[in-house]
Amino acid sequence: MKIIGTGSSSPSLTVSNDMLATFLDTSDEWIQTRTGIKTRQVISTERLEDLAAQACSIAIHEAGIKAEDLDYIICSNTLNEYVTPALSCILQGMLGADCPCIDLNGACAGFIYALDMADALFERGNMEHILVVCAEEPTRMVDWTKRDTCVLFGDGAGAVVLGKGEGFKSFKLSTFSNTEALYQIRKLQDTPFIKREETEGNDALVMKGQDVFKLAVNCSLNDIKDVLKLAGVKADEIDHYLLHQANMRILDTIMRYLGQSEKNFPHNIERYGNTSSASIPMLLDELNKNNKLKTGQKLVFSAFGAGFTTGACLLEWTM
Ligand code: UT7
Repeated sequence: MKIIGTGSSSPSLTVSNDMLATFLDTSDEWIQTRTGIKTRQVISTERLEDLAAQACSIAIHEAGIKAEDLDYIICSNTLNEYVTPALSCILQGMLGADCPCIDLNGACAGFIYALDMADALFERGNMEHILVVCAEEPTRMVDWTKRDTCVLFGDGAGAVVLGKGEGFKSFKLSTFSNTEALYQIRKLQDTPFIKREETEGNDALVMKGQDVFKLAVNCSLNDIKDVLKLAGVKADEIDHYLLHQANMRILDTIMRYLGQSEKNFPHNIERYGNTSSASIPMLLDELNKNNKLKTGQKLVFSAFGAGFTTGACLLEWTM
């Protein structure tokens, strides 16, 4: 398969580090030094499905197809207002598509997992166009009184339309079960048969930052080395490494270990924060729209998230 269209959308409200410092014990200096984030776009008046539909429409338009031409929609989403139906089903109606739809929850690595599933669907042979959309509102998962998590995130959506082709060269996915370092528990309804203690469960995101940091660096490096090896490509031959935008220091560390320079590690974390699985497709769309991607260039995507889920893939840009 190959990418034939990209799109992205983000909420209108820009929240600066100084704005956060008005209600949190934090500072612009701490946030920038430790994470690289200057501002993030935060959902206020928008609904996530509107952002997602906009990202999809842009990608569909660029692909030169109509929503009715889609054979499948895969939506990567961790949380939204609907428990059911799936966000992809809502998007199908908004877009006017009529194909099967499914959501997956691969946390921040969801884009790579969705691409891998799309690749398998293309292998089956009866698909022409698959839409992968990542739509996330992590700012509605965090506790806004907890400075160690809420300063990190932003909201947004990124989408790609995939068509038949030879763009993608290799994939590597891994999952390591861990429900302690990064998780969020949702309170379910009580029943006559089960009553949990009031204190059981915490309804906001919990993260052991340093554990996640180490895992992110180790797993991303392994995944990247593996996709390079599988594709028979050297690290120096990659034009753009698009990494999950979680922390600028994670990007810098991986860049140093791979012996690469800054120009090969594009980033927009400074303007968007961590938008979970939407971060890579949003960055991809930004590079695409700014004509930074040239036909034949080699790209690596690499992401990690709660699960832990990690994954990478290597592709040649064909647009
Ligand atoms: O996509 C999901 C994946 N998530 C990630 O990738 C996150 C990975 N981890 C990280 O990015 C970093 O671990 C953080 C940015 C979350 C934290 O940076 P750190 O350098 O690991 O800081 P730390 O947790 O060791 O905290 C250092 C100090 C602590 O104070 P004490 O105990 O040294 O007095 C924290 O309480 O910084 C304090 N701190 C803050 N101070 C000001 C934590 N958050 C803040 C804050 N502002 N927002």
